[in-house]
Amino acid sequence: MMTQQEIDAALTKKPAIAWPSEPRLGSIYGQEELDAVEKSMRDSMDVVKGFGFSAPPIPDFEAAFAKYTGTKFATAVNSCGPGIDIVMRYLKLQPGDEVIVPSINYSAAPLAVLGAGGTVIWGESDPDTFMLDPKDVERKITPRTRAIFPVHIHGCSAPMDEYIEIANRHPHPVYGPPKVIGDAARACGGDYNGTKIGKRSWATIYSFHTQKNMTTLGEGGMIVTDDEDLNTYAHSVRMYGGGVNAWGTSNVMTKVQAAVGLVQLAKLDSFIAGRRRVAYARNKMLEGVEGITLPYNPPNAESSFYMYPIKLKPEWAGPKRDYIITTLKEKYNVGAVVANNPSYMGRKILADHFGKTTPLSERLASQLLCLSIHPAMSDSDNAYITAAFLSCLHEL
Ligand SMILES: Cc1ncc(COP(=O)(O)O)c(C=O)c1O
Repeated sequence: MMTQQEIDAALTKKPAIAWPSEPRLGSIYGQEELDAVEKSMRDSMDVVKGFGFSAPPIPDFEAAFAKYTGTKFATAVNSCGPGIDIVMRYLKLQPGDEVIVPSINYSAAPLAVLGAGGTVIWGESDPDTFMLDPKDVERKITPRTRAIFPVHIHGCSAPMDEYIEIANRHPHPVYGPPKVIGDAARACGGDYNGTKIGKRSWATIYSFHTQKNMTTLGEGGMIVTDDEDLNTYAHSVRMYGGGVNAWGTSNVMTKVQAAVGLVQLAKLDSFIAGRRRVAYARNKMLEGVEGITLPYNPPNAESSFYMYPIKLKPEWAGPKRDYIITTLKEKYNVGAVVANNPSYMGRKILADHFGKTTPLSERLASQLLCLSIHPAMSDSDNAYITAAFLSCLHEL
């Protein structure tokens, strides 16, 4: 834990960067990315080749990504959201078919279930981990459950093996065990049970949006799976679905994005190492502080630390938590964010369709805040941010 002397000393070293709660560029770009863009563009400045279609290096990026995650197949798409839509459409949900989705989530997964004609069954999140609670999945699984769709919410893996075990015990009468799907938009590069996040689930979808652990020029996504049929479908419907005679639209990634993706992927482990350096140093500075719980880091998983989530004691929930976030911004110029409230709280369409049925998660989210983190954050900036947070706590 930081001493008062260390807090005071850290606060004299104001960062040159006003660290946003979720930095607008989540990775680090350099000359290699610039070179990759130029090479790929020059290659495309040719009437015979041009920028299309699904041409190298797109398949190379897919192969490299599949290798990285230990999966058989990968399909590059224009962003994670459409990737999730594709996976949901593949399931051919019928009215009344259920998908269990944690409410503490970004809106992409429940919206995709809605778009595909299914019913979201909101799952509560585990109060220690913020992940979809397997015990609640056990309570809510029914013969209509087609999929269990957890999100690796802050960059650490959800307990995928536990969901798979539950799914296997509750097969759908027609389709067999519900598919376990991972939203790894925030968890690219995290580890789980000796594998990379993405290996365990039937399908996993990643985001390469500008804020994420790696980015393909600001937008992009990837679907990985061991299921050849899903991969064939995804490859086809990302470009209008002719190959599988299914509905599709254009969800393709460009050659230039893929070229940059190859470079970013090669650096991903170093980005994750940078995030872990910041997180573990911050853990030490916050260790033993009364009233807070540090980020969940189970023995069988190592977080990518896309976010640094802190759980406050119930007495500091809601208004006091909001006061900390506002004070961090106004007094110290430091970003913190609630990631996330139950998604139906911010998206009326989700509440209208699927209700607001996770009171425990609503309470849990009111105790949450995520402090800014980035692989390039210096130790001194990390100390300043941590000291600013501790000073806010002292004011409570
Ligand atoms: C958990 C989660 N899922 C899905 C998405 C959607 O990603 P994209 O912007 O690449 O469509 C995001 C983006 O912020 C996210 O945080």
